[in-house]
Amino acid sequence: MSDFLIKKAEKEHNLTGDELAEILGNDEINRNLLDAANRIREKYVGNDVHLRGLVEFSNLCSKNCVYCGLRKDNKNLKRYKLKPETIIDFAQKAVSYGYKTLVLQSGEGDFYTTEDMIHIVREIKKLDAAITLSIGEKTEEEYKLFRQAGADRFLLRIETTDKQLYKKLHPDMNHENRINCLKTIRKLGYELGTGSLIGLPGQTVESLAGDILFFKEIGADMIGIGPFIPNRDTPLKDEKGGSFEMSLKVMALTRLLLPDINIPATTAMESLNPQGRLIALQSGANVVMPNVTEGEYRALYKLYPGKICINDTPAHCRGCITGKIHGINRTVSKDYGFRKKIFQSKS
Ligand code: SAM
Ligand code: SF4
Ligand code: FES
Repeated sequence: MSDFLIKKAEKEHNLTGDELAEILGNDEINRNLLDAANRIREKYVGNDVHLRGLVEFSNLCSKNCVYCGLRKDNKNLKRYKLKPETIIDFAQKAVSYGYKTLVLQSGEGDFYTTEDMIHIVREIKKLDAAITLSIGEKTEEEYKLFRQAGADRFLLRIETTDKQLYKKLHPDMNHENRINCLKTIRKLGYELGTGSLIGLPGQTVESLAGDILFFKEIGADMIGIGPFIPNRDTPLKDEKGGSFEMSLKVMALTRLLLPDINIPATTAMESLNPQGRLIALQSGANVVMPNVTEGEYRALYKLYPGKICINDTPAHCRGCITGKIHGINRTVSKDYGFRKKIFQSKS
């Protein structure tokens, strides 16, 4: 039955929640699923891999997501906040290595003024690079100002569409507000990125199926899927964590249902499997986000243990990932890597 469903998804790019859950619950057809996603990736987004340089510019956070090492109550972490000029400098260096997109990511909160963020975005835009922001929940006014300053994309994972689970994991957040943020981001003309954590305690294949349907419904342009990796400095330290395999399956199904979007091979996948990003690139992904943060900050941006590249330099990572991409007969894109829409979202 699942084999038939994969063929259907490859042809029609549509499955019901029950059908998705059936595939997710069946281990035997993994190979067929990953191969189908690879074919659809090649057909709709080609062989180019888009590289986005990731600047982890502050690990300060005012929230308490129970899975994350940056959570406010984690006192076991040396905190940092890069100066605006340092962030711009890291971006400049990344552009000199050939990056056409910078992703600016941090914990959530008002640690930078709106004016500071606008200044950073404006200066980086002058470098002829696209900008993705990943700085959490903001007001509509702030999202608007960052967009006007030149930010092109915004990444805000829904994490899980299971409302009860969301509530348990995010004591100081609200699921409805998160969805409203995503709608606002889309309305303002950003490319919208969202995604989920895989293997959260209590998460079911049915709820993962719901996540994939949500990605379609919200009209996402990019979807980041990664395993939840337990961090010993968080309340979820004794949990099992997500598997590489299940993360790949959710990612592959996302590609089958949303053929033309951008899908990163996430860092967390490589943290669980030394070939994780390459396997992901051959199972539906077409984006990699190498770290372009310099120095000790890489290690201090500690969401979970086993994070890759913490002792490497941006120059080394750039060469490393390019070699790996060429090694699987793929090419590194030379453009900004915006989604080329073939399918319109319903909403
Ligand atoms: N603070 C912003 C936010 O929450 O959207 C952006 C930074 S946050 C660290 C980026 C992502 O890290 C989150 O969306 C979450 O999915 C992921 N993350 C946090 N803790 C993790 C863990 N223990 N394992 C895997 N991913 C994790
Ligand atoms: Fe803060 Fe984001 Fe981590 Fe939540 S996931 S604690 S908002 S950095
Ligand atoms: Fe950082 Fe390979 S991408 S060392």
